Amino acid sequence: MEKYYTNLLDKNKAWVANNLEKDPDFFNRLSQGQQPPILWIGCSDSRVPANEIIGAPPGEVFVHRNIANMVIHSDMSMLSVLDFAVNVLKVKHVIVCGHYGCGGVKAAMSNKQIGLIDNWIRHIKDVYRLNEDELNSISDENERFNRFVEVNVKEQVLDVAKTSIIQNAWSNGQEIHLHGWVYDIKDGIIEDLDVTLKNNSSLSEVYQLDL
Ligand code: CO
Repeated sequence: MEKYYTNLLDKNKAWVANNLEKDPDFFNRLSQGQQPPILWIGCSDSRVPANEIIGAPPGEVFVHRNIANMVIHSDMSMLSVLDFAVNVLKVKHVIVCGHYGCGGVKAAMSNKQIGLIDNWIRHIKDVYRLNEDELNSISDENERFNRFVEVNVKEQVLDVAKTSIIQNAWSNGQEIHLHGWVYDIKDGIIEDLDVTLKNNSSLSEVYQLDL
């Protein structure tokens, strides 16, 4: 265990050396500041590392991750990340990336009690309820699970759009595109769910803010 831990620091040094060999200015340039074009909202799952799966180097992706890539409108951490990304970094794209085999989504399908996390998972259960007719009509449990992952991503994209942060940015003429993706752990391929939003017109009227 100790060896595993010290190995991490050795691997860090090797990574530094490798980067400097390819580009002696690598860290110097990054230390000047960041201008990432993307805000990534993903799952905490260790198998879905934001930068790595899209081949993005440091400096390109501003990241927020939590269990099941949720956009909860009272989550100060998410709101702070979103506000900073939109109003200071001026990102062009917000990508909500879910993944098949998501433990959080799976837990939301069951009635098992786990602990404190049940209260987080409740938000995912709300997404099930919103899509209950469709999901209940899928008899194969695995297919239902996959579809639940997809509709959850779709719902989180809408939840990003509903925030005052995004609606104000759109109203001020800032061009921000919101996207929903699903990553497949089995083959590493990302599918674009084609739920891209560029304005608030497709939100239910009750969510559209007067700006
Ligand atoms: Co997950």
